[in-house]
Amino acid sequence: MKLIIINGPNLNLLGKREPEVYGNKTFEDFFADLQFKFKAVQLEYFQSNIEGELIGKIQETGFSYDGIILNAAAYTHTSVGLGDAVKAVSTPVVEVHISNTHKREEYRHVSYISPGAKGVILGFGLQSYELAIKSFLAD
Ligand code: DQA
Repeated sequence: MKLIIINGPNLNLLGKREPEVYGNKTFEDFFADLQFKFKAVQLEYFQSNIEGELIGKIQETGFSYDGIILNAAAYTHTSVGLGDAVKAVSTPVVEVHISNTHKREEYRHVSYISPGAKGVILGFGLQSYELAIKSFLAD
């Protein structure tokens, strides 16, 4: 099984960014844990702060990988282009968020990703990513 985690803007700062919301761990450390835990899964990771690069990665992987785990971060709430990319590809996309966006500001309650996503996992901290991997393995 080949899966990719695609992270959007500011998620490169995990560990130092608003630790009360996003925790103390860097994504690199967490990703190493995931690779160790899911040895049978070919797991890749891509992060960008640039909308077009995120769209490019969805297009590049979205016809050959078994799954995309997408945390589009702030672009979740603004990007028609990312939402269209998710709908355009044949690989199923699971949308994840570290925080429970529905408990936060109203502008975070809208997602342009959800209408094209296979499912949404949010509010479980970094464990949201792990649950997304498990959802693909359970299929
Ligand atoms: C986030 C939630 C978004 O609202 C925010 O802009 C992020 C991270 C999350 O994982 O909780 O950058 O996607």
